[in-house]
Amino acid sequence: MFDIQEIRSQFSILNQQVNGKPLVYLDNAATSQKPNSVLEVWNQYYTELNANVHRGIHTLSQLATEEMELSRRKIQKFINAKNDFEVIFTKGTTEGINLISYILTSKLKKDDEIIISYLEHHSNIVPWQLLCERTGAKLRVIPIDENGILQLDYLDQFLSEKTKVVSVNQVSNALGIVNPIEEIIKKTRASSNAYIVIDGAQSAPHFKIDVQALDCDFFVFSGHKMYAPMGTGILYGKQEVLEDLPPFHGGGEMIAVCSFDQTTYAGLPFKYEAGTPNVGGNIALGAAVDFINKVGHENIQNHENALLEYAQKNLLEIEGLKVYGENANRTGVVSFNLIGMGISSDVGMILDKMGVAVRTGHHCTQPIMDFFDIAGTVRASFAVYNTFEEIDLLVEGVKKAHRMLA
Ligand code: ALA
Repeated sequence: MFDIQEIRSQFSILNQQVNGKPLVYLDNAATSQKPNSVLEVWNQYYTELNANVHRGIHTLSQLATEEMELSRRKIQKFINAKNDFEVIFTKGTTEGINLISYILTSKLKKDDEIIISYLEHHSNIVPWQLLCERTGAKLRVIPIDENGILQLDYLDQFLSEKTKVVSVNQVSNALGIVNPIEEIIKKTRASSNAYIVIDGAQSAPHFKIDVQALDCDFFVFSGHKMYAPMGTGILYGKQEVLEDLPPFHGGGEMIAVCSFDQTTYAGLPFKYEAGTPNVGGNIALGAAVDFINKVGHENIQNHENALLEYAQKNLLEIEGLKVYGENANRTGVVSFNLIGMGISSDVGMILDKMGVAVRTGHHCTQPIMDFFDIAGTVRASFAVYNTFEEIDLLVEGVKKAHRMLA
């Protein structure tokens, strides 16, 4: 049974007024709200359990360690990783992609190639540009068509023995387009030995993830977009891949033996977890996984897809409104503009006065904006707790913006 009111009752933050109006929170692609169960676990950690992990013989340290490792195993199941030690705690997707691009440095040389796509967030562009600067490798970018759909025949042309990395997102944060990553991975495996990196920041909150079925080398995502605290995230890496690569940060907990003559490194996952981790956050990420499992992936997807369809249909009835990626397979996001009527932030400010929270601007995807020759879009993004009544308020707000800006 999917009971939206019961779900909403778990998110106290939603029960408030903003600018004198009930809050309509539609900025979930930026960060989702957190259910009370996650907040309670986080609070309980700091009120009852706080201690550093993997270091202490004392009881609290052991309990904190057990809880964090239990959370790791929940996440292992959540993404169907083969081993729990393939799950590395990070502070988010950005850190995950930077980590991967850093540890791959010695694997690339001048004129090697890294393939990304036009739909990437800056965090899946800039780390690879930095890797190109360090190694002399070149970036190749899969283009999109006017619907924002990836032109995969270019991937066929680009793939060669020079290809060392293919890194794409599963879902575009700016447009919500679902990319055919299964096909991209198959094509890549068939014609290169490239490392395959999937940015799952916008898919992990919505889809069931199966890293073994995908057969990617890396899969990264953030906790804060999937009902967990900020400053949490996961890097999944295949065992044999991570074992073959060097560490990222040096420091405590990532060594086997440290001496001035020679230091050897700990096994997975600790080799990639130098320093004190975000223990409370990592445990709370496990509670967010519990929340998602309890609601059920199918329920989440059905509800969010229905919201998206309803929002798009009603928004498109507004004269002069353009939805970017209108005809593409999408999830969780509708990105639009009132053509010729001010800029996206004008619409965003009018919506905010009505209590409706959306993101406006380039969404850290300037190449997409350049492609459509725009400065930004208005982006409404959905989570499991959003309602059809909230979509009505969004549409009403956009109609008001239309009246004011036309
Ligand atoms: N990457 C986040 C977004 O799309 C912050 O809004």
